[in-house]
Amino acid sequence: MESDIKILEFRPEAAPEALWTAYFDHSEAMHREIDPQDPLLGRERHRAMLLVAFKAPYVSRRLYLALTPGGEAAGLASVSTETPRSPSYQDNKHLGNLNLSVLPGYRGRGLGWRLLNHVISELAVKEPAVAELMSPVVLEPGKKFCGKLGAKMALAHAENRLYVKDIDWAMVEHWAAEGRRRNPGTTVLTVGIIPEEDIKDYSEAYTEAMNQQPFGEISMKITVTPEQIRVGEKECLETGAEDTVIYTREANGAVSGLTETAYLKDSPHKVRQMLTGVRLKYRGRGLGKLLKALMLLEIRAKHPGVKYVVTGNADSNAPMLAINNALGFKKHLPILFYKLKLPVPGGR
Ligand SMILES: CC(C)(COP(=O)(O)OP(=O)(O)OC[C@H]1O[C@@H](n2cnc3c(N)ncnc32)[C@H](O)[C@@H]1OP(=O)(O)O)[C@@H](O)C(=O)NCCC(=O)NCCS
Repeated sequence: MESDIKILEFRPEAAPEALWTAYFDHSEAMHREIDPQDPLLGRERHRAMLLVAFKAPYVSRRLYLALTPGGEAAGLASVSTETPRSPSYQDNKHLGNLNLSVLPGYRGRGLGWRLLNHVISELAVKEPAVAELMSPVVLEPGKKFCGKLGAKMALAHAENRLYVKDIDWAMVEHWAAEGRRRNPGTTVLTVGIIPEEDIKDYSEAYTEAMNQQPFGEISMKITVTPEQIRVGEKECLETGAEDTVIYTREANGAVSGLTETAYLKDSPHKVRQMLTGVRLKYRGRGLGKLLKALMLLEIRAKHPGVKYVVTGNADSNAPMLAINNALGFKKHLPILFYKLKLPVPGGR
């Protein structure tokens, strides 16, 4: 009976073990459905990462489970919003990031709708500024659900992958050499922690590049301050992630470009390639290709067991895709971002 299913909040810091098991079972079932070949993250690492994410000062997260009388999480919804402490709170307080999933055996019976309504009523009380939900969708039933709600497809995105066995290392070495030849006054730095003397400029370059990615019809503005970078570095240490940043500094001391990756010892088969960006006035000089090439060489030297590099790109990001496609990145998982304006007609 659907009415026997209860929706309750899952608070990682206080959850009893039975709820953790329900949470892991659900998340792992969804992961297997979405990406069956991708190995699961071990539960203890997953737990540690979730606990750190819930303590983050700039983002507030809420997670709800739709629990059957037998203790199974038939559905799960998570929503995150920026906290007033975030420097971009005023720009993004209208936005909630939603993830919603219902296990295959429980689909088509109104549970997604119930979970969504629950999230919306909670937000109305706790985060009344939220006027729009944004949600990444991979599976067909999710697209149908969004269509029925009248949500608008706002951005076509994808997880793209580069298999290390397919890399043309001679080309990568050529890009690195060519980038250095074209930029003789540029210094390249490879770090885990951004040096204090560069952090202000680095955070400005990061903010600029972040906001130049295509966001489609998602209205958001990202601001990244030195304090946020330091918080991120601390979180990395706590979760055991190994972040590597390669950035370029011009002769005048300005940070011109950057690229960053994350590696987890518990997922040694992959590296996550995060932001790559070159400030506008330094583009077209081969810095983007230099940075990406140097990062691949770094991965080869430091983590020879890595099988592939994963990254996320908007399908419309022509400059980034020009570089990634030349390196051999291929579309792995198409992800559509939907935007749902609140209140939803027919909802609470
Ligand atoms: C992507 C980015 C890092 C490239 O930096 P860059 O220093 O200009 O890159 P390079 O000069 O090394 O090379 C750019 C390549 O892309 C190509 N390119 C640039 N703009 C392009 C476009 N609109 N369409 C197709 N190809 C394009 C160039 O022709 C060049 O290739 P070539 O050497 O074969 O001619 C830069 O555009 C950027 O910072 N964008 C904003 C941030 C961003 O979106 N990052 C990715 C987030 S997922």
